[in-house]
Amino acid sequence: MEPVPVEPEPVGHDLDEARTEARGLLEKIERARETYYGQDRSVVDDATYDAWMHRLEAIERRHPELQGQDSPTLNVGAAASTELAPITHAERMLSLDNVFSAEELRAWSTKVTDAAGRSVQWLTEAKIDGLALSLRYEQGRLVSAATRGDGRVGEDVTSNAVRLAGVPQQLEGEGHPSLVEVRGEVFIAVEAFRRLNALQAEMRDRVVAEAAARGIATERAETSAARRFPAFANPRNAAAGGLRQLLSKKDGLELEAGLARIESLSLYVHGIGAWDTSPVKAQSEVYDLLASWGLPVSPHSRVLVDVEDVVARIRDLGTGRADIEHEIDGVVVKVDELALHGELGETSRAPRWAIAYKYPPEEVHTRLVDIVVSVGRTGRATPFAVMEPVHVAGSVVRQATLHNKDVVREKGVLIGDTVVLRKAGDVIPEVLGPVAELRDGSEREFVMPTECPECGTVLRAMKEGDIDLRCANARTCPAQVRGRVEHVGSRGALDIEVLGEVTAAALTQGDGAPLSTEAGLFALSLDELVPISVMVRDADTGEVKVDPDSGQPVVRTPFRVKSGDPSKQAHLLLGELEKAKTKDLWRVLVSLSIRHVGPVAARALAQHFGSIRAIEDAGEEELAVVDGVGPTIARSVKEWLAVDWHEQILRQWERAGVRLHVPDHPGPGAADSADGPLSGLTLVVTGSLEGFTRDSVKEAIITRGGKASGSVSKKTDYVVVGENAGSKADKAEQLGVTILDEAGFVQLLQDGPPSPEPEG
Ligand code: IVH
Repeated sequence: MEPVPVEPEPVGHDLDEARTEARGLLEKIERARETYYGQDRSVVDDATYDAWMHRLEAIERRHPELQGQDSPTLNVGAAASTELAPITHAERMLSLDNVFSAEELRAWSTKVTDAAGRSVQWLTEAKIDGLALSLRYEQGRLVSAATRGDGRVGEDVTSNAVRLAGVPQQLEGEGHPSLVEVRGEVFIAVEAFRRLNALQAEMRDRVVAEAAARGIATERAETSAARRFPAFANPRNAAAGGLRQLLSKKDGLELEAGLARIESLSLYVHGIGAWDTSPVKAQSEVYDLLASWGLPVSPHSRVLVDVEDVVARIRDLGTGRADIEHEIDGVVVKVDELALHGELGETSRAPRWAIAYKYPPEEVHTRLVDIVVSVGRTGRATPFAVMEPVHVAGSVVRQATLHNKDVVREKGVLIGDTVVLRKAGDVIPEVLGPVAELRDGSEREFVMPTECPECGTVLRAMKEGDIDLRCANARTCPAQVRGRVEHVGSRGALDIEVLGEVTAAALTQGDGAPLSTEAGLFALSLDELVPISVMVRDADTGEVKVDPDSGQPVVRTPFRVKSGDPSKQAHLLLGELEKAKTKDLWRVLVSLSIRHVGPVAARALAQHFGSIRAIEDAGEEELAVVDGVGPTIARSVKEWLAVDWHEQILRQWERAGVRLHVPDHPGPGAADSADGPLSGLTLVVTGSLEGFTRDSVKEAIITRGGKASGSVSKKTDYVVVGENAGSKADKAEQLGVTILDEAGFVQLLQDGPPSPEPEG
């Protein structure tokens, strides 16, 4: 395939532009975190929040100098930087300037050669996507290890660094300088990263198994396991968190996992900071010397004379990227002769004798087989690209959302086009645009359907100015019913493991499907399940599979075995549905698919009113004043309840035994100050806490009788300040409200407030 011009880099290489964008993202993320933790509402959905984080990550990858020590991208799973002691580097740790094309690189090399006034030899190195480390050796003995920090002052990570195989405590050989700062990059090799995530999964399984043995509910154990041993998103962040973790505060499984995380780290050294005497004349000789001292040097460095050889090396390393043992995000080109380093000098942030050539994120070509419109649980019709499966940035991609018809038009893609695909922020597949030169005339334009592809109802915008089109047939549109039934089983709702996408489809669309809405879900019987049969679809194309011998569609009967008896799956589903009937009221509320009612609002409603009946009896204002509800949710709840087929869902669920109340609830409002160690106390949480999710922190307060409020006032008893706390911490200080850190908060949860000092 011919190389084709593609859309601009996903993150522009203009530093100022990137800085502005990063600032905007930081602000949004900060605000979202604050309202999520501190107030009873969320300003964005999870997908948007994740997209902001991924975008910020992508910007920071391209412009690492924009990644502050307190960046939210760093504090996932990492120790609070305030807990690691500061270490001042003897020599500042600089960053690198970037170039993004061969032309820019040639221009840089010309500038350097002109300034040097003589020919220059280039040293090319893989740019390791990791975390910078500075090792301070005095008379050959390791005295400290520090992260880069702000370049002048880093964090003391000595106790972890000494556990790295590549960090000798005593340098080999003799005649070491009295002081030398060795600089390098800590990373997790691709294979080690795979093993590390497998180990995290094993740890999660162990937590769940141990909890089961102690009779703890699986659902709770899984939540706790996922929080304690999350899957790491990428090697770079796993390495950063691994090096900065506080092992001394860990024990049991956490310690075991923490040690394994450190074991997964590797180091390649790539330079010298402070050095009292330099016995060598070239950077490449520095590496020979460092290797002779027992320090690990990268096998990917080359000394080259011609800049065109440098360009070729960059290309080769790029195409062979997948064969390198660690992730690389570019190539570092350095002037080899050390005397020139001094002559060329440095800017305030980067040396003039080195440059980083950054690779664009991986982009691939594939064929756009079709643009299909799917209708979701809420009726929104979304076009998405169906593509020939293609491997990009670590996984096989077949589909990508195209959001709405305007986006399809803006991208200019035709069905049948070869398209350029990448993963935005290296995570979400995104079609960038067509390779127009490869068109042969057979391509056709996408036409947004005017009717719901599943039920034929006319698609329309629900509000003026809405780009999204929706199917208004909420009651019987198969796509919406299927989506809602699946939602009932989802984790955040009634968490019914067997009720996933496939089962929801079988129950609502299979031949002989028993459900036309979710109303009958909890009254399902074996007799209704057994006859269901479903057509098997190809995972890639979505087409119904056909048996090549008979020419008939391939059919599965998930709920019966050959003899015609109910299958294990059928018994399992009914058993799980039975268990779900007595789950917490807030879960039932979430499972009803009421617009805007997620776990936080549902908890608040359940806690305050104690039953669906009481919610039905309450007026809109009464709902709105409940902490965590507000006018939008109150209106949405009332609108939902006013629909008669919704009412039928409730009545049918109730008849089938679904508990629509909180047992022993004392009545509306009466449980708001329930007994518990926090009874009568109002808390505000600001910033992120390591040991709590956004929801669990609120739950922890409410279930102990406390009130979780969103804003700090004189009535606030405690403000809990986590990482990235915003202005609320300042306000608490001004008002003289007691401020707690996470440890203090955990103690308060256990013991309640300290008893007042006896007077006199
Ligand atoms: S030399 C004064 N060499 O990339 C120059 N840095 O984006 C110091 N990095 O802060 C850096 N691989 O942490 C150098 N082979 C390599 C590198 C490398 C990765 C990191 C380093 C630096 C960052 C700049």
